[in-house]
Amino acid sequence: MERIFGRPIVTQEEMRARIRELGKQITADYADKDLILVGILKGAYAFYADLARAIRIPMRVDFLVVTSYSSKENTSGKVKMMSDLTEDIAGRDVILVEDIVDSGLTIKYLTGALSKRKPKSIRVCTLLSKPERRKVNVPIHYVGFEIPNRYVVGYGLDYQQKYRNLPYLAVLDTVDDEGQGF
Ligand code: IMP
Ligand code: MG
Repeated sequence: MERIFGRPIVTQEEMRARIRELGKQITADYADKDLILVGILKGAYAFYADLARAIRIPMRVDFLVVTSYSSKENTSGKVKMMSDLTEDIAGRDVILVEDIVDSGLTIKYLTGALSKRKPKSIRVCTLLSKPERRKVNVPIHYVGFEIPNRYVVGYGLDYQQKYRNLPYLAVLDTVDDEGQGF
């Protein structure tokens, strides 16, 4: 599987180091708070697992499942919640954990929807951000890496639901309409 990709855009060492820093920062920022770490599935699963273990305070974990993309690379601009939280977030301090913020539409939709449930605070922590692609302005409090406008896979991120298990982040080489030839 790995030979079809070019060089990793972020190496595993860089990622490990950055996630440790994010964990330390969140640990300090939320020391006295009632933190609930909300993973946005499926894309955030790998980042979430590593980030959660880098946070050294008692906290709750929860997940929601959204789809915002068609099977192709381009965004449909539509966000659908396929599965909701199991915990009550009212009065709690929420951090939404995302794999990548691209247009910003997913995060805008989710922060809007979850704000109605009266959490004490909501912040966003994303592993990756592509600022050039932003369509809506959303505040993102913790960013792992800003990357250029390239389609990346691995470490939770998919192309047509595959490659999420690649252990590093790689730029996807050019593909044809059937997803062949890379
Ligand atoms: P947004 O709503 O446009 O910000 O899109 C966010 C979602 O699009 C992310 O959660 C990803 O699932 C997906 N996405 C955006 N860019 C990429 C990419 O380069 N590779 C894989 N998925 C991506
Ligand atoms: Mg996703």
